[in-house]
Formats: sequence, structure tokens, C-alpha cells
Amino acid sequence: MYLDRNENLYGPAPKCFDVLRSIGMKELSLYSRDFQRGVKSLLTERLAADLKIPEQQILLSEGSEDMLKQVIHCYVNSGEKILCPAQSWWYYQVVASEVGGVTVQYKLKERVDRFHYDVDEMISLYAKESPRVVLIASPNNPTGNSLDESDLQRMTEAFSESIIILDEAYWGFADASIERIAEQIKSYRNVLIMRTFSKYYALAGARIAYAVVGLDLTHLTKFASHYLGYNRISEALALAALDSPEYYRTITAQMQEDRKRFYDLFDAKPGFTCFRSEANFVLVRIPVKIKEVLRDVLKAKGIVIKYFSDTEFPNCIRITLGTHQQNVLMMEALQMIVYKEQR
Ligand SMILES: Cc1ncc(COP(=O)(O)O)c(C=O)c1O
Repeated sequence: MYLDRNENLYGPAPKCFDVLRSIGMKELSLYSRDFQRGVKSLLTERLAADLKIPEQQILLSEGSEDMLKQVIHCYVNSGEKILCPAQSWWYYQVVASEVGGVTVQYKLKERVDRFHYDVDEMISLYAKESPRVVLIASPNNPTGNSLDESDLQRMTEAFSESIIILDEAYWGFADASIERIAEQIKSYRNVLIMRTFSKYYALAGARIAYAVVGLDLTHLTKFASHYLGYNRISEALALAALDSPEYYRTITAQMQEDRKRFYDLFDAKPGFTCFRSEANFVLVRIPVKIKEVLRDVLKAKGIVIKYFSDTEFPNCIRITLGTHQQNVLMMEALQMIVYKEQR
């Protein structure tokens, strides 16, 4: 049982499987002709209508990983700086190194059972380093915290000379409303907001994501253009997912309940800190003495989670929220470990 990579283990909506059963000659053998109609694809048109954002400001990619690569390769030259969270998805540093960029890290601060962005500190670091790009993740992986609107506003004002990438890969697990994004992208001209179908929509294997880009980022809009279209099967899957809001609301509500159960379980055990998360995973600091036994018991049960090294996050693990049944198995294993230790 893999609870280590923040995949959505419920799988996608039934309509996505209907799409797969209906794939034929058109999707497999023909290029789309959407470009001739003046739009990128059916999916960008649909997203534009749903999000109330001009289609020209929506880009598609093979996952957010690919989008991030495109933005960094488009804008960052060798020796230029990228400001990114010290505790974050490992690829941020790797993509910077692909172009010879220099990463400057800012730290997320820990307060009781939650991490948060220290905007004042970020602003002073920004003034000192003058980065080309500022990367923010909301919710952040692995800390699980997200950014509130007033902090984002302060950042966009302070970082107006740079490009701001807001990685919202874990959008939807706390609040799946779509109202705010149109306002944000109108107000923040130097911002790019990345969202993926991998997590909330459980389509990681289809490799499809989108970005909403601010009006100042026209260079990227050109750089990212695809005249022959995108993967038509992935697009059809994404459209089917967008047509299934009830399915996703239901599985997310269950994940939110289970997330709360994990908080309760760890809060009741001395020596554990389970950080509050707006994503489909929880970061947990565990007592040092339990580390080995935890690894052994979970291994014996075939449960795989993410163990951080001591330099990244001392004594921390990250548990992806699985299906309810998988979460129950995980919680039973944890109870057993703690019980063993206490005897
Ligand atoms: C913060 C963050 N952004 C993006 C991704 C990758 O998303 P995608 O599957 O769309 O490439 C991950 C993957 O785990 C992630 O943790």
C-alpha cells in the first residue's frame, strides 16, 4: 500500500473510465484542429468558461512538473536566482539547476502544530537577493499549509520586479471553490498559478495540468504554444473529471474526515506533532525512539510512507491520505506501534 507520493488513491471519477472505453480513431490518429479555431484546445476553452478567465491566459502542460520546467526554462538564465521554500518539493531545486539557476531558500516557520509563510522575512530576503523568480506553494509539500489572500497580496506588491509562481498542486483538498482565481489573475499581472489534474482529480498517470498566467507573462504564452494540440486522451479524461464535481466532493469530504482522525490520533500521543494540512497528506514529527520500530512494523505490513532524512526534516514522516479503508489500516498500525513502545 503506497502512501508515500501524495497520489489520490480513490482513483478518478467513473466518467473517466467511460472516456477510456470510448477512445477511438479520432483521439488516437488525428491532431486536434482547435488551433485553427483560435483556441488551444477544448480543455482550455472549458477551463476559461468555468474559471471566467480569457482562454489566452490558460496554458496546458504534461503535469505541473512540465509547466514548471517551461516557465523556468523560458525566464531564468544561468546565474539568475530563484527564491523557493527551504522545505518543499525537491524538484524546485532540480529545475533551477537545469538552467544553471541559483536557488535561494526561505524558511517556512513552525508555530505549534502548523507551518506558515513568514512574509516579512521573505520580503527582506527578496530585497537582498533580487531573484528572477519567486516560487510559492499553496498548500506546500510537505508542510501542508497554504497562503492566505492578504499574504499573497503583500507578496505580489513586494515582488513586482519578478515572476511569481504559485504552485497549487494540492488545490481542492481544503476548499474547492473556483471564484477567487479570476480576480487574482486580473490583479496580479506577474503571477502564474499552476494547478494539476494529478491530485484532486486523481489523474496523475494522465499527466495533465494547467496554468493561469498574468498579463505580463506573454513571453511564456508564446513559448508554451502547441500548434498540433495536446494529448487528446488526457484532455478527454480531464474534461470528464470536470464533469464529475459530486464524485470529487464526496471523496474529498471523506479525506478531510480522515485527516482529522489522524490529527486526533497523534494529538493524543505524547511526543508526536501532526501538522495541520490543507492537502491530501499530513506531516508528522515522531519521537526518535520510535523511528526504527515504525519502519519495521510498516514494512512488515507492506505500508510505504515517506521518511525524511534528518537534514531535511529531523524525525518526520509524511503520510498520504489514502482511501478510508487504507487510512484505517494505517491508523491501526500506528496504534500498534505506540502500544508496543509503551509496554
Ligand atoms: C508541490 C508539488 N507540485 C507539483 C507536483 C507534481 O504535479 P504533477 O503531477 O502535475 O506534475 C508535486 C508532486 O508531488 C508536488 O508535490
